Amino acid sequence: MSKKILVTGGTGFIGSHTTVELQNAGYEVVIVDNLSNSKADVVDGIEKITGIRPAFEEVDCCDLPALEGVFKKYPGIQGIIHFAASKAVGESVEKPLMYYENNIVSLINLLKLMPEYGVKGIIFSSSCTVYGQPDPENLPVTEEAPIKKAESPYGNTKQINEEIVQDFVHSGAPISAILLRYFNPIGSHPSGIIGEMPNGVPANLIPYLTQTAIGIRPCLKVFGDDYDTPDGSCIRDYIYVLDLAKAHVAAMARILEGKNADPVEIYNVGTGKGVSVLELINTFEKCTGVKLNYEIAPRREGDIEKVWGNVDKANKVLGWKAVHTLEESLSSAWNWQKKLRERGIM
Ligand code: UD1
Repeated sequence: MSKKILVTGGTGFIGSHTTVELQNAGYEVVIVDNLSNSKADVVDGIEKITGIRPAFEEVDCCDLPALEGVFKKYPGIQGIIHFAASKAVGESVEKPLMYYENNIVSLINLLKLMPEYGVKGIIFSSSCTVYGQPDPENLPVTEEAPIKKAESPYGNTKQINEEIVQDFVHSGAPISAILLRYFNPIGSHPSGIIGEMPNGVPANLIPYLTQTAIGIRPCLKVFGDDYDTPDGSCIRDYIYVLDLAKAHVAAMARILEGKNADPVEIYNVGTGKGVSVLELINTFEKCTGVKLNYEIAPRREGDIEKVWGNVDKANKVLGWKAVHTLEESLSSAWNWQKKLRERGIM
């Protein structure tokens, strides 16, 4: 019998791609999502791609009775992948309580229910934001690098949630956990059926870039060209979303097969390669043949100058590796943007 996994935030960007990969790997998926930043028709898209319709419940993880109802309705959930969270850095500065409440209460509710319903493991979506700006000798950054004070309430919820998981497991709770620290996830499913769908004006680079390329936005602003990097623009580690999704499948298998060495394990999930904003724009233009209108603008407050991951641990221990190139990721993001236009959405 296939193993049942609860995916919170499963209609979101990373959640939907992970659901596809979980189903492809033979897992049965139950999605809960409050649709605050996604649409229910993503479930149709997942079905179109995989031929299997995941169960879907419109539930807010902060609503404990409703969340418990999901565990009752779908008995035998063995693992949880917890994506559901608010993730806009700027908004978190304006609405800190909303961020703390949403992101922390939802995790606490899941942890409370796990022992009661015999759920073995949880994978938590963390972020390289916990490292802040690593010291130069710590680049590429490993999991052992010091945690820096968070730059925003959003970043702080990631740090606090990592600690909540650690404290709960170390208290003797009968569960295992894997904290995945993502670098910058980009791209979309090659079918163009699911992808990244930000509300309003995108804050992240890739959706802003593809919306500019298709003419929705007049010009992409490159935030700063006077950083201490080879071309002066910021450096990040951009990982293809389906590679990231597969890291979750590997992590879940590790927990469910009892192969984890520690009850809480932490892995960086990136490509191990740093790419600057200007390099990325250049690669986009080359691989799509589209000329992008962009200009150099002042630095964005709170931006990290350069960060990319040392991913040896995930490669060796999880047996997982990012295999897709930046060209493939950017082409898929562009394909998705064009599909949205064809469908009359944007
Ligand atoms: C940000 C958050 C990160 C969070 C992620 C989730 C910070 C410091 N980090 O990542 O914690 O997990 O969002 O959404 O806020 N850029 C431009 N022009 C644009 C947009 C972005 O030049 O219009 C540049 C940025 O300066 C940065 C790079 O593109 O160098 C990537 O930016 P973005 O996609 O927003 O991601 P992060 O800032 O890395």
